[in-house]
Amino acid sequence: MSWRVCAMFLASAASSACTTQEGSVSSTAATTNAVGQAVALPAIDELRRLYARDPAAWPAPGLDDGVVHRELGLVPRPLRDEDPRLAARIELGEHLYFDGRLSGSGQMSCASCHDAELGFADGRATSLGKDAKPLKRNAPALLNTGLRQSWFWDGRAASLEDQALAVLANPAEMDADFEAVVAFLSSSRGYSERFEAAFGPGPIAMDKVAASIAAYERTFVSDGSSAFDDFLEGDHEALSDSELRGLHLFRTKARCLNCHNGPLLSDEQFHNAGLTYYGRELQDLGRYEQTKDPADVGRFRTPSLRNIGRTAPYMHNGQFDLDGVLNMYNAGMPRPPRRADQQDDPLFPTKSPHLQRLFLEDEEKADVKAFLSSLTERRRRVKPPAPLAAGDL
Ligand code: HEC
Ligand code: HEC
Repeated sequence: MSWRVCAMFLASAASSACTTQEGSVSSTAATTNAVGQAVALPAIDELRRLYARDPAAWPAPGLDDGVVHRELGLVPRPLRDEDPRLAARIELGEHLYFDGRLSGSGQMSCASCHDAELGFADGRATSLGKDAKPLKRNAPALLNTGLRQSWFWDGRAASLEDQALAVLANPAEMDADFEAVVAFLSSSRGYSERFEAAFGPGPIAMDKVAASIAAYERTFVSDGSSAFDDFLEGDHEALSDSELRGLHLFRTKARCLNCHNGPLLSDEQFHNAGLTYYGRELQDLGRYEQTKDPADVGRFRTPSLRNIGRTAPYMHNGQFDLDGVLNMYNAGMPRPPRRADQQDDPLFPTKSPHLQRLFLEDEEKADVKAFLSSLTERRRRVKPPAPLAAGDL
């Protein structure tokens, strides 16, 4: 802390009114800073003026040393595709995404757990897998999934294609028998014609299935319909006073931008947000299970916060609502100390140093929540395509 605190709260790093951590600040709304000292937020008119600009010229954010400044912004729209093969893959992928006949039970499709009307999640704490057995983790929303850099909460899939094959093969999930899937698809005139349009002549194979599902998933892109997007596009009345204060707090005192940054509000990195439940029933070692690096114990990939209002419940285990999440962040994600038997345990999880007590007042928490709700997009209604007949070839 030092000049950063000034930059954070004064919203103008150049102001001479703020010189040190204890320095005086000239503004109206009193609050406390991240170390519990009294500081001031700019008054709402001043905030409106400061944010009525291109994001590159917004007030300096409050970032910890070593964090790269990636500003929030509009989600890039996919280029319109002129390639007829790609259009055919997307259409084929849509059929496959909704087709429960790919699964071992004949009943479970991607849409069972990633429903467009529920923000491409399933609304459950953790999904129900095969035979309705609860899985360990919450189904992530798939909005903008094609823009991510790794997949799954622990980043264990390196591409959307790998991810699709993994869930199809997983005996606790779709439990698909790949030979049976290929035989089923090859027996269908509708599918055979579509595979040919998408890939040219040649046998149907699982890599083509995965490529088509991935092509369809890449069309799940933010549509720019949120209030925050309108604001970014220059409609500076699109955010209410509370939402705008929330945006400023998110970038400054609440420290969220340290990890939730860029257009998707995710740095695509892995952090321990304090939810390892180490040694307890809900224990989940996160990225460690993949890398076996003790530093990765309890680390999960920062989720995107786009459309967050539609994708409750939250966190990798779906244990929280939005108030619960904000209360935990405000308290600095307190963790149980090492027990006597854990003193020398190399796997004892360490929470991210970016998480500290925030001293947000109730109204400020409400402002951050209001800002998060301004990321909500128009509700999507996706009509599943009519199932293609099988066994007619
Ligand atoms: C039984 C419920 C279920 C079904 C069916 C299901 N998923 Fe998922 N999906 C999940 C869960 C739970 C996760 C998170 C698992 C984890 O991180 O370990 C997930 C993760 C993902 C991710 C990673 C998202 C991210 O942000 O990292 C993608 C992409 C995805 N699923 C796509 C699909 C596709 C495509 C299908 C169909 C082939 C499918 N899912 C079928 C529950 C399901
Ligand atoms: C240290 C980096 C970091 C900081 C700082 C941080 N987050 Fe997170 N956030 C994460 C990670 C990682 C997760 C997933 C944790 C898990 O599931 O165990 C997460 C999860 C969330 C979720 C749940 C999303 C979902 O889809 O389940 C919300 C909401 C959220 N953060 C909001 C915020 C807000 C608001 C702030 C500021 C007060 C903030 N975060 C600060 C890294 C961070």
